[in-house]
Amino acid sequence: MALALLLLLMAGLGLSSSSAVNYELQARTFINESSTRYYKFYNDMAAETYTANDEEDFDALFTKLTNVKRIADELVRISREASEFDLSKLSDLRTKHALQELRSVGDLFVLGDDYFSLVQMNLAALQTLSTDKDIEPYMGGAKMPNDDDSPLAYFPDIQKIVQRSSDADELKYYWETWREKNQIWSSVNFYTIVQSYQRAAKILEVPVHRLWYRFDDSQDLLRQMERVMEELKPAYKQLHAFVRHELHKKYGQEVVDANGPIPDHLFQQVLEQAWSEGSILEQYFPRRELPQYDDFVKDRTAKALINESENFYTSLGFRPLSQEFHKSQLKEPNQHRPDDDCRPSIFDLTPRVYLMYCEKVSFRKLMQYHSHMARVYYAQQKQQLPSYYFKAYNLEYPVGEAVVLSASSPTHLVGRGLAKNVQFTQKTLMNRLFRMGIHTILNIPLYYVHTKVMHDLLNDSVDMDTVNKHYWRLMEQHAGIEPPSDRDEDAIDFPYKFYVNIDQNYQTQKFISEILGYQFYKALCNSTSLQGQPLHNCDFYGNLAVGNKLKSMMNLGSTKPWKDVIGKILTTNPNLNSQALLEYYDPILSWLNAHNKETNVKIGWSATKKIAESEFRSSNFKSNFDMART
Ligand SMILES: *[C@@H]1O[C@H](CO)[C@@H](O)[C@H](O)[C@H]1NC(C)=O
Ligand SMILES: *[C@@H]1O[C@H](CO)[C@@H](O)[C@H](O)[C@H]1NC(C)=O
Ligand SMILES: *[C@@H]1O[C@H](CO)[C@@H](O)[C@H](O)[C@H]1NC(C)=O
Ligand SMILES: *[C@@H]1O[C@H](CO)[C@@H](O)[C@H](O)[C@H]1NC(C)=O
Ligand SMILES: *[C@@H]1O[C@H](CO)[C@@H](O)[C@H](O)[C@H]1NC(C)=O
Repeated sequence: MALALLLLLMAGLGLSSSSAVNYELQARTFINESSTRYYKFYNDMAAETYTANDEEDFDALFTKLTNVKRIADELVRISREASEFDLSKLSDLRTKHALQELRSVGDLFVLGDDYFSLVQMNLAALQTLSTDKDIEPYMGGAKMPNDDDSPLAYFPDIQKIVQRSSDADELKYYWETWREKNQIWSSVNFYTIVQSYQRAAKILEVPVHRLWYRFDDSQDLLRQMERVMEELKPAYKQLHAFVRHELHKKYGQEVVDANGPIPDHLFQQVLEQAWSEGSILEQYFPRRELPQYDDFVKDRTAKALINESENFYTSLGFRPLSQEFHKSQLKEPNQHRPDDDCRPSIFDLTPRVYLMYCEKVSFRKLMQYHSHMARVYYAQQKQQLPSYYFKAYNLEYPVGEAVVLSASSPTHLVGRGLAKNVQFTQKTLMNRLFRMGIHTILNIPLYYVHTKVMHDLLNDSVDMDTVNKHYWRLMEQHAGIEPPSDRDEDAIDFPYKFYVNIDQNYQTQKFISEILGYQFYKALCNSTSLQGQPLHNCDFYGNLAVGNKLKSMMNLGSTKPWKDVIGKILTTNPNLNSQALLEYYDPILSWLNAHNKETNVKIGWSATKKIAESEFRSSNFKSNFDMART
C-alpha cells in the first residue's frame, strides 16, 4: 500500500531523469528481495503439500491447509507489489521480464478462499469422474470374467476393455454410458474452473490465456499450433483413410461409412490397441514379428531401470545424481495403496525433484524413467537462477520426448546390450514405426481440438450451451471423427482424458511436447557426427556435444522469451514445425501412400450426418449452472 502511494506520487510529479534512475533501482531492489521471498515461500508451500500426501490425521491436515493459505497470501502479495510497477517507465528489458514473471506468481491464489473451496474441490471432483466405480457393465456383466456384474470405473476398468474388445456395440455402450452418467457434473465442475481462470485473470490484469498457458504470447502459440495442423494434414489424411478402410472391412458400412468420418468409439479402440495383437494392423504388421520389448528388462529391478536412465544423461556429460537423490528423493511405491497400474511420477520442487517409482518392471517403465529424468536434470541446471525463472515453459517434456526417441531406437537398444539376440530387420523397423506412428499422429489433432475448445471457452467466443456442437465441428474438421450416435442437446462429450490434469493444461503440453520433441531430436541428431542415417534410428547416447546444447538451453530457465530459449537447440527456426516428425515417419508414410493408392480408398471425409444443426437446439446451461451453484 505504501509502495502504491509512493508510485502514484511519483507519477503525479512526473519523472525527472534522476527519478527514472531511481525507479529502475527501486524495481531491481524489489526484484532481488522478491526472489528470496518467493524462493522461501515456494519451498515452504512444497514442503506442506508434499507431506500432506500421506497424512491421515485430520488435525494435522487442517494445520497444513492453514499454513498453505498463509503462504498463498504472501505469494499474492508479491504479485500485487510487482503489478504496482509501471513497465512503460522502465527501460531495462531484464527488469521488465522479471517483473512480468513476478506478477503471475500469485496465480489462482488471488481468488482467496474460493481457490480452496471452489477450484480445488471442483478439480478433485473432475478427477473422480473417471475413477468412480459407477458404470453398469455391458449386458449386466455377461462379457466380464465370471459374469461379474460389479460397477466399473472408466479408469482403469473400461480403458482395459477398450484395449481388448473388438465388439463395436460394447465399445459404443461404454462410450455413451460414461458420458450420460457424467454430463451434468462434468460440465458444472468444469465450467467452474473456466470461470475461475477468467476471474483470476481479471484480478491480476493479465490476459486469461497468459494465465492459462503461462506463455509470452499465447495468440502466437495458437497460430503456430494451427500451422502445424495444416502441415500435418496430408499425412494425417492418409493414415485416417487407412484406418477407416480397415474398420470398414471389419465392421461394415452400417457402422463405419467408407467415405465419412470415423466414429469416435472405434477411433479410440484403434488408439488403445496400437501395440497389441489383433489390432487392425495385424494383417500387414503382425505383433509377433516385433521383439518382446519387456524381455529386454525382465532380469532387472526397478532401481536398476532408474539407474539405466540416469546413465543416459551422464553419458551426455550431466553430473551423476547425488547420493541424497538416491537415498531420499527416490520415493518407494506407496505400500498402503497397491496399484496394479502404477505410473511413475514426479514431484518437482526445483532444485529438489522427487521421483515416485514403481516396483513393476517393463520396457514402458524404462522409457518413462528416461523421460522423467529430464525434469530431474533440468532442475539441476536451472537451480542457480532466481526462483521466479524456475518454471521454464515446461520444456522438460519435449526434452524427455527427444531422449525417449533416442533411447528406444534399435541402435541404442542393441548398443546398450538391452536387445540381445534380436535382429531388427527392415520389416521390424517398419512394424515399430507404424505402431508408434498410429499412437503419435492420430493423437495430435485431439490435443489440438482440446486446446482450441479450452481457448475459445476462456475467451468467451463459445459458451457452454454451444460448446459441444463446437467440439464436434472441430473434431470433424481436424480429425475426421464423429460421435457414435446422434447427440442430445445437453450432452458434453469430452473424453475423460480432456479432464486429466486440466489445471496443468496437459493437452496443450502434450501437443507441444510431441511436436517439439521430434524437432529437438532432429536438431540434436543433426548437430553432431550422427548425420547420415535415417532419423528414426539415430541415437545420441554418449554424445557430449548434444549434452552441451541441452545444458545451454536448460541453464536459461525462463530468463529469456520462449523462442530465444528453444533457439539454443533449434538454431535454424525456433517455431513449432512438423517437418521433423514427418521425416521420422517417412518410411511408413510412403508405405501408406502406396497402399492407399492400391486399395483405391477415398482420402479425406464427407460431412457427418450425426451432428445436424437441428440436433443442437440451444440448451440452458447458464441458468441451470447458476441454479446448481446457488
Ligand atoms: C540484485 O542482485 C544481483 C545479483 O544477485 C546483483 O548483481 C545486483 O547488484 C542486485 N541489485 C540490487 C539493486 O540490489
Ligand atoms: C543405482 O545407483 C546408485 C548410485 O550410484 C547405487 O548406489 C545403487 O546400488 C544402484 N542400484 C542398482 C540396482 O544398480
Ligand atoms: C478468441 O480467440 C480467437 C482465436 O484466437 C480470436 O479469433 C477471437 O477474436 C478471440 N475472441 C475474443 C473475444 O477475444
Ligand atoms: C543440419 O546441419 C547442417 C550443417 O551441419 C545445417 O546446415 C542445417 O541447417 C541443419 N539442419 C537443421 C534442421 O538443424
Ligand atoms: C516463425 O513464426 C512467426 C509467426 O508465428 C513468423 O513471423 C516467422 O516468420 C516464422 N519464422 C520462420 C523462420 O519461419
